[in-house]
Amino acid sequence: MAIYPGSFDPPTKGHLDLIARGSRIFDELVVAILRNPEKAPLFSVEERKEMIELLTSGYKNVRVDTFEGLTVDYATRVRATAVLRGIRAISDYEYELQMALMNRKLQPSLETVFMMPAEHYSYVSSRLVREIAAMGGPVGALVPGLIEQRLRAKFGAPKRSKAPAVASKRGRKRNLQS
Ligand code: PNS
Repeated sequence: MAIYPGSFDPPTKGHLDLIARGSRIFDELVVAILRNPEKAPLFSVEERKEMIELLTSGYKNVRVDTFEGLTVDYATRVRATAVLRGIRAISDYEYELQMALMNRKLQPSLETVFMMPAEHYSYVSSRLVREIAAMGGPVGALVPGLIEQRLRAKFGAPKRSKAPAVASKRGRKRNLQS
C-alpha cells in the first residue's frame, strides 16, 4: 500500500493523472492531505477531501485521508510501504530528492516512488492555478470541471470568458437620464 501525500490546494489534472498511474501499480493508494497549520489554504482540508473523493470515486483501490505531523509517522500508522510523489520537471527533483532522503533517514523501510505525470501537465501547479483563478483567468485545461466550478464559486466567473456587456438602447437612455 502507498500513500500519496500533498497539499492538493486545489487538486489539478496533474494530481489526477498521478493518482491514475499510482492506482495501477499499487494494490491500494491513499491520497493523504496534509493539515498544515502554518499555511492559510484556499480550500479547507474538508473541502479538498470531498473534492478528491468525488474525483476518485471510480477507483476501487483509492481512498482519501487527512493527516497532521510527519509523513513518515502517518505512513507507519497506516502501514504504507511506499510514498508516491510526482516529478514534473528537473526543477522538482532537488526538493523531492531532499524530501525522499530525509524521509528515508527518518524511516528507512519506507520507499519513495517517483512517477511522472503526462508531459502535457508538466507545467501545471496548484499555486499557478490559484493565481490564475484569483485573477479571473481560465483554468479549465488545468483542473477537472468540478474544481473549476469550485474555483468559480470562490472567485467568480473567469473575466475573459464573459461576453462583452452591451447596454440596451433603453438601458442607455435610462443611464443618460439618471
Ligand atoms: O503538495 P506539496 O505541498 O508539495 O506536499 C508536500 C508534503 C505534504 C508532501 C510535505 O510538505 C510533507 O511531507 N509534509 C509533512 C511534514 C513532514 O513530514 N516534513 C518532513 C518532510 S522531509
